[in-house]
Amino acid sequence: MDIFGIETSCDETAAAVVRDGTETLCSVVHTQIPLHKAYGGVVPEIASRAHVEKIPEVLETALAKYRAAAPDGKIDAVAATYGPGLAPALTVGLNAAKGLALSLGVPLIAINHIEAHLHTPFLRDAGESGAAARPDDAMPALGLAVSGGHTHWFDMPRYGEYRVVGQTLDDAAGEAFDKAAKLLGLGYPGGPVIDRIAREYRAAHPGAKLIPFPKGRPREGVCSLSGLPAGLCVSFSGLKTALLRHVQKFGAQDVPLLAASYQEAVVAAIADRTRTALRRTRYKSLIVGGGVSLNSRLREVLSATAREAGVEMLAAKACYCGDNAAMIAGLAFHRRNIEGNDAFSIDVSPSLC
Ligand code: KG4
Ligand code: ZN
Repeated sequence: MDIFGIETSCDETAAAVVRDGTETLCSVVHTQIPLHKAYGGVVPEIASRAHVEKIPEVLETALAKYRAAAPDGKIDAVAATYGPGLAPALTVGLNAAKGLALSLGVPLIAINHIEAHLHTPFLRDAGESGAAARPDDAMPALGLAVSGGHTHWFDMPRYGEYRVVGQTLDDAAGEAFDKAAKLLGLGYPGGPVIDRIAREYRAAHPGAKLIPFPKGRPREGVCSLSGLPAGLCVSFSGLKTALLRHVQKFGAQDVPLLAASYQEAVVAAIADRTRTALRRTRYKSLIVGGGVSLNSRLREVLSATAREAGVEMLAAKACYCGDNAAMIAGLAFHRRNIEGNDAFSIDVSPSLC
């Protein structure tokens, strides 16, 4: 079954076709990063206008690539992200998907963006050797979605069943990286540059003492926990303030040390909550998705955390970590019998979780 996926929730206009939930036949991602760089973050108005301008080209390119990859193929359904994300940006993709599904006479499947990030470890490129892990075989799992907009831990007893067990109380991990990079004058997006600088610093100064920034542990009982256990939640606002205070006091003197120390605090916070979640419930695997899962130090520390807990860590290939449409088309294969044709009447849901 070939599903055409569309993703426009934030600053990537993307389209892809995935066969049977796993095999990516084509994937086109147009990033708007150059448009938002000057502002140090995504500007919603600029994002939605750029989606409108780019979506015809992205869809046509994906369709042409699909025809080249599978000359006898037939698109069986169209899928699009309906939330969470920027409302006007989501609207562009969902409406394009409605139009495409109507014109092809196939069902439309509405997809939750965060859930799709957790599908990415199960994707592989067409023709890639070796079988991809299968979602059902990975259950029960602890899901960790870490991106620019989200930092959530999910209990996944079966594939398709999710319960939030922990989350950030303020900034998402990617946002925490982006804001720190802005403060340190490192540009946007901040995650990749902090990752690189920190890696170089650690390589040049093995065993060096880092600045002990706070590890984002919320106080038990604060109302923003909304009933979730403090041990499974994280707060990055104190960390951000600690970096600001440090820079105000000493200046941004040793940026590599600051970047490495800040990253270590973010990674330690995420790894600590993950460790706690893995102790609370017996899982078979740890599924990690989202742009921040590209972070080399986070991958290293989470792999060790999973190994210690005796669970397998499943993380996506680099090309599937950031926003893309293969994750939308791939997940849609598993959701096709749930939303089905009703998705034509679905509207965007910007604050969906
Ligand atoms: O998943 P994504 O493409 O978009 C959202 O759904 O938000 O994630 C983008 C975020 C940005 O905040 C970016 O700084 C962060 O992922 N990011 C990284 C790395 N690469 C991207 N954060 C840390 N280390 C990286 N290597
Ligand atoms: Zn995302």
